[in-house]
Amino acid sequence: MKPLFHSLFFTLSWMACSRGFANPSAAASHTKPTSITQDVGSSIEDIFEYDKTSVACGKYWSFLDESDQPKTSVPETDLRREEVLCGKWLFLSWETTGKLPLPELLFDAIQRSWPERVGTQFEKLGFLPNPFDKRGRPLGVTRSTTKYTGLPAVNISCSACHVGQLPDGRFSVGAPNTKLDMSTFNLMSYFPLFATMSNQDRALLHPEVRAYYLELERTEKNRIGDGKGRIDWSNVIFKYSKLLRWLHIGAKGLPDAKYVVMPPERDLLSWIHGKPGVFNPGAPMLTLQVEGVPNLAVPQIWGVSGFEQDFANGKTAPVGQTTKYSSLEKFAADALIYAYQDPALNRPRNIRPLVAYLRQIETPKTLEVLDPASVVTGQTVFNHSCKSCHDGASGESTKIYGAHEVDSIAALENPRAGYEATTPISKLIAELSDTLGARIEPQPIGIKSRRLTGLWARKNLMTHGSVKDIDDLLCLKGSRSVEAFTHQEICSELNFSERQSLLSYLKTL
Ligand code: HEC
Ligand code: HEC
Repeated sequence: MKPLFHSLFFTLSWMACSRGFANPSAAASHTKPTSITQDVGSSIEDIFEYDKTSVACGKYWSFLDESDQPKTSVPETDLRREEVLCGKWLFLSWETTGKLPLPELLFDAIQRSWPERVGTQFEKLGFLPNPFDKRGRPLGVTRSTTKYTGLPAVNISCSACHVGQLPDGRFSVGAPNTKLDMSTFNLMSYFPLFATMSNQDRALLHPEVRAYYLELERTEKNRIGDGKGRIDWSNVIFKYSKLLRWLHIGAKGLPDAKYVVMPPERDLLSWIHGKPGVFNPGAPMLTLQVEGVPNLAVPQIWGVSGFEQDFANGKTAPVGQTTKYSSLEKFAADALIYAYQDPALNRPRNIRPLVAYLRQIETPKTLEVLDPASVVTGQTVFNHSCKSCHDGASGESTKIYGAHEVDSIAALENPRAGYEATTPISKLIAELSDTLGARIEPQPIGIKSRRLTGLWARKNLMTHGSVKDIDDLLCLKGSRSVEAFTHQEICSELNFSERQSLLSYLKTL
């Protein structure tokens, strides 16, 4: 069960990998050289590696020619090193969601309007601090395109969701940020639109949504002055953005009316029902959610392999669940389209580093000392009861299963089936994404299991996040809540001591 693919890139030449004839098992016998990046540490500083990562992309790109091929003069180890470090930089600080960029003014206004709800650095919404951000913004909030706002804007990067704190206090890249309350963040970022709605329009909102925004409005700190006798424009704009837009104040009007509309009701409701670490990551632009599709738990992304050839040979399940891709390269290419809506960015010089970095992030190991005998017994139980499906290198499933086979939710099998782009921006993305041809078409129907590595540190198990943690999975502290029905059979079919030894074994993965 030890992930085998970590050593892969160190042993195959870079060229070989970029052509995609990578086979994880082929590299298994080679010893693993020291990792290029440090992705687990006792502080954010430790895992950010600012001095190395912040300069890496410049170096890496200077190693490439016009067609993104490495120049022959560059030593392979240097190329590989800067490629991975550049990927880490992109992961930490490139905007990458399909969410519409938020003008900085509005971002700052959120913070100053509801300090009691968001905290001084958005820490109350679960964002981690970024010691290297000169403006004191949290990790995962990063400068974005001005294309839609005509103003300095911010957006979310991979690190907002995919850097988390482990139960023992260490920080880890690849751990889901289980504290991140993205739903509330999304709701708050649409407050300016609510603020400018007439009572008549407000009455048309779903009652739950209306009640939420009315409460936000009630608690808003209404400030026109900044405390120093000057006008606080961020707050004025926050409150009267629509008015200013009509008056054509601001570079392009604030923000661009063509793109900013209140999200569809189902998205607003999914946010209201989201919880930290479990939310609708794409909304509002994706508007994927057919009624009844649950929010998704942020997965751990330690040891994602995603090699095209493995997928073609039936050795690995697709990357992603709501939208399924045949490789990590294609997943990353589509992510750039979602974030920037600019096909020009879909170049090997951007895709390769991100993918190379992701493939080498290691799973953090538990510091707990486990009873070896119990681990061995647990492995036997696993091989007998679980391995037929959890047959991948990191305990993931290599195939996809019907929801009924594991008592999961049918709407997760292929959420794209009901997908319809409704907003101007989601239509644009759908169009560009189709041109790219990155998604598997037609989308396979079924649910895969995510990797089981690092389960000791996880919360919100299953794609919909309903099983609290590994103890809940094995019903070791009483029975589960009614919503946590997936894999309920583990609790009824395995006896207590089998489940206890299984716990020991699973903690070693
Ligand atoms: C807003 C939070 C958020 C951001 C930002 C985000 N992700 Fe994710 N990520 C998720 C969620 C939720 C899923 C599960 C979606 C699914 O499986 O369909 C996911 C799935 C994935 C997967 C697939 C894992 C698997 O088991 O198939 C990978 C890989 C990944 N993300 C990498 C990234 C990278 C790289 C970035 C930046 C380019 C990024 N994510 C940005 C929340 C986020
Ligand atoms: C019939 C195939 C099958 C068997 C047998 C099976 N699983 Fe699963 N397992 C799955 C699928 C499919 C999922 C994904 C369900 C979802 O996300 O809704 C899953 C999800 C999981 C997850 C959640 C992973 C995550 O990070 O979200 C854990 C943990 C897990 N299984 C453990 C086990 C254990 C332990 C056993 C044996 C006692 C077992 N499974 C037996 C197919 C199976």
